[in-house]
Amino acid sequence: QRSVSRPLSCPGTVAANFGNEEQPSGGAETGSEDQTLKRRFSEVQKERREQAQRTVLIHCPNNINEKKFLKYLSQHGPINNHFFYESFGLYAVVEFCQKDSVNSLQNGTHTPNQRTEPAIPFKSRFLNLKLKNPSNQIPEQSYAQTNNQSPPSSKKLFELLNYAESVDDQLNTLLKAFQLTEENVRLRHLTCSLIEDIAAAYFPGCVVRPFGSSVNTFGKLGCDLDMFLDLDEVGKLNVHKDVGNFSMEFQVKNVPSERIATQKILSVIGECLDNFGPGCVGVQKILNARCPLVRFSHQASGFQCDLTTNNSIALKSSELLYIYGSLDSRVRALVFTVRCWARAHSLTSSIPGAWITNFSLTVMVIFFLQRRSPPILPTLDSLKSLAGAEDRCILDGNNCTFIRDVYKIKPSRNTETLELLLKEFFEYFGNFAFNKNSINIRQGREQNKPDSSPLYIQNPFETSLNISKNVSQSQLQKFVDLARDSAWILEQEDKAQPSPSSKQPWGLAALLLPPGAVHTLLSKKRKKPVSEKVKSLLASIKSSTADTSKGTRGK
Ligand code: CTP
Ligand code: MG
Repeated sequence: QRSVSRPLSCPGTVAANFGNEEQPSGGAETGSEDQTLKRRFSEVQKERREQAQRTVLIHCPNNINEKKFLKYLSQHGPINNHFFYESFGLYAVVEFCQKDSVNSLQNGTHTPNQRTEPAIPFKSRFLNLKLKNPSNQIPEQSYAQTNNQSPPSSKKLFELLNYAESVDDQLNTLLKAFQLTEENVRLRHLTCSLIEDIAAAYFPGCVVRPFGSSVNTFGKLGCDLDMFLDLDEVGKLNVHKDVGNFSMEFQVKNVPSERIATQKILSVIGECLDNFGPGCVGVQKILNARCPLVRFSHQASGFQCDLTTNNSIALKSSELLYIYGSLDSRVRALVFTVRCWARAHSLTSSIPGAWITNFSLTVMVIFFLQRRSPPILPTLDSLKSLAGAEDRCILDGNNCTFIRDVYKIKPSRNTETLELLLKEFFEYFGNFAFNKNSINIRQGREQNKPDSSPLYIQNPFETSLNISKNVSQSQLQKFVDLARDSAWILEQEDKAQPSPSSKQPWGLAALLLPPGAVHTLLSKKRKKPVSEKVKSLLASIKSSTADTSKGTRGK
């Protein structure tokens, strides 16, 4: 039971569905697909930003009474939504119907006055609620219920998977368990909005936009929060007033390159977050990376944040993935499964290095789905050919045009099951000629590799870049070996016809176990022939494993 208030009397505000699985989700990022109205990416983002601007984050005493809390806040105006969550303390996210209520609340708020630890008086929308007389408070009957922001534990996941009815059901179960919830999406947008307030101290009119897996429909609970400081809006506000014989420009400082400008901006914003940003800790400036960034933890939300600027192509690629994720309900289930599989086998890591990234894995799944017959996903070139004049988009000289209205793209005629697709995905990449070929979702076919990187995945918009340049030969080999093992496991499972009610991990659950465990499991299954039927089944597995010549390893 989630604690959510949703008064009907909030005209003009977003009627988002609140994480209720039975209802289609209002935020397409959470993607309770199928019945969801597939809205434009830009529309969804705009609405979320506006919603976040009417929202505050409040650190609350643990024994808070929800009713009294809401009554207290309602002095400042009607509340549209709220929820509580725990992250080293109890927090509330409260969305007012009107932005004015936030101002009113801030006007009635004071800066703490502690003699021992002087405070920097930065007035943000991140507040602290104090009980006036904590000792007088009688223990409350109705503590606030909290909303969970973490992914399920492995134990819980295995339980869920074992109770599923089929492998297809398992993939969909995994998707539901890991996808971002409505509340988590709100918290991500709110965090960006809070950071925007800090950046606006230097650059009034700037926008901090989330991108990457927080908005592309492929985000797993617990994923990082990629933010992009968009300064393009700054100084563009009154263009329409620029009439007559003159035009006016701001006096600005000039720097030798775009990169240096980016580094300078991020450097001061990094300092600012470090010195004044409430709840921003562990600020690291990583300014020499190809894409300079400031990394920090936003303690109250629990998000690891990466802030970049001058990075509008990445936002565009988030929109492209959003479109691919909305086109067919199998896409997200497959991507989530591959991402979880990769994580379970340490193919991906939260530490940067020679590992495959989730972004690369997502592009690999998209490419694989473009290669099916009939294709499940269209190529980027065909999305470009469907585009109208209003979709035209050139960023830094790169043509980033594609159709943005999902309804104008024909659904696929392909009816393959998720189980089959997963097995074929592993087969396909277990046998892919990575030494010769590159992956290219623009054309939807492999091409000769332009350089000797072990894994070459063309960046869809900056086509001279390889998105997986960081991947080492040994990490690629590990991926290939695990893909082959997994294809093999799924094949054995298929033949052994495990019963969904069995206590042993089966199907997808078997794939997520460490490799040793699965082999023991499968050999155990093979060692206890309880009937003649099983014996003959095992014999058939043996013979087909022995003469398999499809490249899967005959073990
Ligand atoms: N990106 C890119 N080229 C890369 C790496 C990243 O264009 N070589 C862009 C992509 O748009 C990607 C975004 O930056 O979605 C964020 O990168 P990252 O956080 O690594 O990937 P996510 O898709 O957010 O996945 P994760 O859940 O692992 O954070
Ligand atoms: Mg990310």
